[in-house]
Amino acid sequence: MTPSDRTVSAEMDAWLHDRGAIFLRRLGIREGHRVLDFGCGPGAYTVPLAHVVGPQGRVLAFDRSAPQLEELERRIAGSPVRDRIDVVRTEGSLSLDKIEDESLDAALVFDVLQHVHDWRLLISNLHRSLAPGGLLLVNPSRLSHPGRVDLERLESILAEEAFTLVRTVRERVAHYDRLREEEILVRRRS
Ligand SMILES: C[S@@+](CC[C@H](N)C(=O)[O-])C[C@H]1O[C@@H](n2cnc3c(N)ncnc32)[C@H](O)[C@@H]1O
Repeated sequence: MTPSDRTVSAEMDAWLHDRGAIFLRRLGIREGHRVLDFGCGPGAYTVPLAHVVGPQGRVLAFDRSAPQLEELERRIAGSPVRDRIDVVRTEGSLSLDKIEDESLDAALVFDVLQHVHDWRLLISNLHRSLAPGGLLLVNPSRLSHPGRVDLERLESILAEEAFTLVRTVRERVAHYDRLREEEILVRRRS
C-alpha cells in the first residue's frame, strides 16, 4: 500500500463511519426514514444512510449490477446496519414497481443519471414513490464529469414533475474510493 492509498482509504473510512452521515443529516435525512438509494453501487451512500435512519428506518439499495451488489454485501456483512438495508437487484428497470406509492421519505440518485435512458420515467416514478414533502437528492456529477449530464434539461424535468427547489449544496462527497467536490441538488416532492 502506498502512502496515497492509505490517505484514500482513511478518507473513505471516515466517510463511511461518520462524515457521510453528517452530510446526509445536513441534507434532511432523519432517524426512522425510509430511503431509496437508486443505483447504490457498492454502498458509499447506502452505509451512511443506514447509520442515519437507525434501527427504525430502512434503506432500499437498488442496483442493476450483480458485482456492485456483491461488493455492497461484503461491505455490510456482519455490521449492525445490515438488517436495515434491503439489497435489490433490479435488471435496470426504472418502474420502481417494488415500491409502494408515497412510501418513501427520501430518495438518492447519485452519479447514476448518465446511465439512465429515460430521466422523465425515473423521476415520475420517484414522485409516485415519495410521500408528499419527501426529499429527492441528486448528484449529477457535474463537477467531476462536466457536460455528461445536461443540467438544464434535468432541472426542467424536475420542475415539470413537481419537484420544488430546496437548495443546491457544494460539498466534498464520496466518489468511488475517494472524496471529490460535487454539487448536490436538493428537491422536495410537492
Ligand atoms: C457510478 S456508480 C454510482 C454508485 C453510487 N450511487 C455512488 O454515488 O457512489 C453508478 C451505479 O448505477 C448503477 N446503475 C446504472 N443504471 C442503473 C439502472 N437503470 N438501475 C439500477 N442501477 C443502475 C450501476 O450499476 C452503478 O452501480
